[in-house]
Amino acid sequence: MNFEQYKKAVELLNLYSYHYYLLDDAITTDEVYDKLYHEVLEYEINHKEDVLKNSPTQRVGDAISEGFVKAPHLSRMWSLEDAFNSQDLEKWLTKTYKLDKNITFYCEPKYDGASLNLIYENGDLIQAITRGDGEIGELITQNVKTIRSVPLSIKHKDKIEIRGEVVIYKDEFEKINQERAKNGEALFANPRNAAAGSLRQLDSKITASRNLVFLPYGVGENTLEHKLLSQKMEYIYSLGFKNPPLRATCKDFDEIETVYGEMNKNRDSYEMMLDGMVVKVDEIAAQIDMGYTVKNPRFSVAYKFPAVEKITTIKEIVLQVGRTGAVTPVAIVEPTNIDGVIVERATLHNFDEIARKDIRLHDKVIILRSGDVIPKIIKVLTHERDGSEVEYKRPTTCPVCQSELLDEGVLLKCQNLTCEARVINSIIYFASKPCLNIDGLGSKIVEALFNSGVVSSVVDLFDLTLEKLLALEGFKEKKAQNLLDALDNAKGCEYWRFVNSLGIEHIGEVASKTLSAKFGSGFLDATKEQIVALEGIGEEMAESVLEFARVNRETILKLQTILKPLEPIKREEAKENPFKGRSVVLTGSMSESRDVIKEMLERLGAKVASSVSKKTDFVIYGEDAGSKYDKAMDLGVACLNEDEMRGKIEQT
Ligand code: IVH
Repeated sequence: MNFEQYKKAVELLNLYSYHYYLLDDAITTDEVYDKLYHEVLEYEINHKEDVLKNSPTQRVGDAISEGFVKAPHLSRMWSLEDAFNSQDLEKWLTKTYKLDKNITFYCEPKYDGASLNLIYENGDLIQAITRGDGEIGELITQNVKTIRSVPLSIKHKDKIEIRGEVVIYKDEFEKINQERAKNGEALFANPRNAAAGSLRQLDSKITASRNLVFLPYGVGENTLEHKLLSQKMEYIYSLGFKNPPLRATCKDFDEIETVYGEMNKNRDSYEMMLDGMVVKVDEIAAQIDMGYTVKNPRFSVAYKFPAVEKITTIKEIVLQVGRTGAVTPVAIVEPTNIDGVIVERATLHNFDEIARKDIRLHDKVIILRSGDVIPKIIKVLTHERDGSEVEYKRPTTCPVCQSELLDEGVLLKCQNLTCEARVINSIIYFASKPCLNIDGLGSKIVEALFNSGVVSSVVDLFDLTLEKLLALEGFKEKKAQNLLDALDNAKGCEYWRFVNSLGIEHIGEVASKTLSAKFGSGFLDATKEQIVALEGIGEEMAESVLEFARVNRETILKLQTILKPLEPIKREEAKENPFKGRSVVLTGSMSESRDVIKEMLERLGAKVASSVSKKTDFVIYGEDAGSKYDKAMDLGVACLNEDEMRGKIEQT
């Protein structure tokens, strides 16, 4: 790197951090940023006279935005030095052992969210402050009070700062984005942005609706006298804060590596996103001795996990037609290795999303892959365009059957019921887990059966014979017999599985259960009034059932004769009691599993629903009750705890 290149690199880093910190809108990946940062640092170490004042290495903390009232932290909030691989960790250990030989380590997750400082006085939460520049942050106490994992009071009376990370769990993040996609709103790029954005809402009701979670990782000002950080943290957890999914004390490099390996291996199964593991010197006295550099404590290091975000190029946009005819665009990207998995496709959600992000063919983009999150494009690098990019045109015909598409705005739909893609996907859905759960009938086999002409509808599946299967490529005796057995096993399934497998639009597992429990095979003749009277079923869903039954009556009856799904057992009429005919919602953990309690209430004639509405009569809550309890309070719905519920039952 020469001076000219160094100047350019500093400019670029500043541009990246402006987008990241000020606009909450990253234009590159952490990996690219870190690499460039280290190149700049290396240049500066060798050319001390050239160091620019505005180099990010000279910055201690970052600017804070206007909008909320500012408030100082009682003691500074630091950042962490990074280690990207075992060599980095080894270097950090060597450096740290030089300061003190007799140390051990406390390891915990590095959560990917927004940092937060909680100040408690006389046991009460008095202030919640964002990190800001490390000295001064934004006062967001009202918003933070809506986070249920932040205790409003603790049994520790001395003044104390408790630091931690606010995160959004991955499933909650997917739900928020699905909802936003449905409403045509811009999607959050990742759970970190969603958490940070939700914390800084001017309306704390929005914060409350996002189900944020606070995970403590340390203390600022405090009077605690524990000798070890691990003891201090146990004390903090015992005050009513959440435990990390994994924590450990380690003696040396090997033990740290083992815990790191375990955490990295399991990271997809954790509810929150992690971007590494933090290693901290466990002995508090040693921590105090070691002190701080301008930016970081010398006694901790962030041992990062391999990146989940990468930069790649869009080669093509292809269209997928689902069983309902909905057409979904998918980006085919230059194959990229992300954390050991080669990613070649990324979801684009819908056509509005392409237009909103202005995604073009040949664009450079940032893609994110993380465990259960489908790879997706989180950013188009418009500043990298060179004119070769091609705008994407909304299709007007089905890519599979060429029939004209129905344009519903956000969604495009193929309306041809015999469209090959729709038929194949309906069969795949029919056999899937929440439907008939037919082993050995995955997408590859369904496609093969369809393409060979042996199966062109779900009914044909049950005409398969050993002979027909053996004539197909890839089928040997055993595999063929297994498939026939699995098909046979589907006979006599629960009635709701049968309803669900039909793939009626807007009718998922829960609605299938509701319909089946009420009507059984009578659902084909139920009237609109009878259907909308069911909890959780609205107009649109009812109409969908009626329309489906009208068009497909013959096929449904034929399938029913073949499958003989079990008629649900009609309950005897319950005797009079306070829950009979009432709509009840359960939330939080109780002395028995929720299913057991649900069953008990249903025997009493209650309808147990999953969400709270004005129609709800009672919310029964256990420990850790969440947003359903709050909603009930808002709507003025009667809330009972488990004992009160049992009391009412016993009285009858
Ligand atoms: S300790 C003493 N521990 O990472 C240094 N930080 O770059 C203070 N973070 O701003 C941080 N998980 O928001 C620490 N287990 C953990 C963490 C953690 C996430 C965040 C924190 C901080 C940033 C450090």
